[in-house]
Amino acid sequence: MNRVDYLRISLIDRCNFRCQYCMPEGTDLNYVLQQNLLSQNELLTLLRDVFIPVGFTRFRLTGGEPLIRPGVVDIVRAIASLPQTQDLSMTTNAFLLSGMAQDLYNAGLRRINISLDSLEPETFDKIIGQRGRSRWQQVWNGIQAAYEIGFSPLKLNVVVIPGVNDHEVLELAALSRDREWHIRFIEFMPIGNSELFDNKGWIDSETIRQQVKQRWGLTEAYVKGNGPADVFKIPGAKGTLGFISQMSECFCDRCNRMRLSADGWLRPCLLNEVGQLDLRTALRLGVSTVELRQQVSDLLMLKPEINYKQRDSGTTGTYDRTMSQIGG
Ligand code: GTP
Ligand code: 5AD
Ligand code: SF4
Repeated sequence: MNRVDYLRISLIDRCNFRCQYCMPEGTDLNYVLQQNLLSQNELLTLLRDVFIPVGFTRFRLTGGEPLIRPGVVDIVRAIASLPQTQDLSMTTNAFLLSGMAQDLYNAGLRRINISLDSLEPETFDKIIGQRGRSRWQQVWNGIQAAYEIGFSPLKLNVVVIPGVNDHEVLELAALSRDREWHIRFIEFMPIGNSELFDNKGWIDSETIRQQVKQRWGLTEAYVKGNGPADVFKIPGAKGTLGFISQMSECFCDRCNRMRLSADGWLRPCLLNEVGQLDLRTALRLGVSTVELRQQVSDLLMLKPEINYKQRDSGTTGTYDRTMSQIGG
């Protein structure tokens, strides 16, 4: 049985991008109201008195876009200084990163995963739903800043969409050759924009792996991480290539994580709502953390069953929440 000790914490459901595969313009998102976000104190109480005592030690901050959460640097500092925190990381679109990277590093964040779906500014802007001034350069500056400051490992996430950015796979993979950058190719899932999914389809990791292999060769490799990526490298490269294959090889039965949404729902699975707990409401009603610990502990016992059920029903199907609402 997998040890479930990795909590993905969404700090806010809003985002400053509108990625086509995630929350395209026009999606009805029903944002969480400010007063319904878990406050920093509530989050810290839950971590200290509920999650850490039941065994969670690895945390990832996600969104929406975590860098637009007011007080994000303070939240990082508070979680990084909990003695039981063994790993703290963040997934961001990096638009605000160049100005914040040093503060985040000083606050104790050491590793970061950044979405970078294209090296072509025009394609990039199309994917992130941006009209007007290009945002690519600003994101690239954020990546460079994080690299120079010393975030490590530094991972770049690419959701591969046929006919949109699949022609750039080799160029993106090549980024791992002379820099210690870890490029991860993610299979497009029908979450967020199933219309795009139905129109474009998805590309499996094996196809990309073969392309890279034919060009440069590929060997197995390792990079620190808690996620489901299979890791390889181009021989002689400084960085690695990761393949996240949730469509072609369901990894639900080795799932090691739960998710805490920005409004305080604990979800044992990305793809269904079985067993979810409304921890924010419970806290505000005065339910004790001892009682909440018991509830989370019971949910942990139930999780293997949920994983197996999800594995058997597959990654496809309709799901009316975006990654940004669940907490990527
Ligand atoms: P590391 O600790 O660095 O390995 O991070 P990670 O891969 O867990 O985190 P990241 O936020 O970079 O996740 C990359 C992508 O993997 C996500 O955006 C999803 O597309 C996918 N993913 C992560 N967790 C899950 C999961 O529980 N289920 C499914 N189906 N996909 C997931
Ligand atoms: N399919 C795969 N990954 C997705 N993400 C968001 N929507 C999808 C989807 N439909 C992931 C991307 C992005 C992160 C924030 O969420 O990896 O980098
Ligand atoms: Fe924002 Fe990330 Fe979703 Fe893009 S994928 S819209 S950057 S949350």
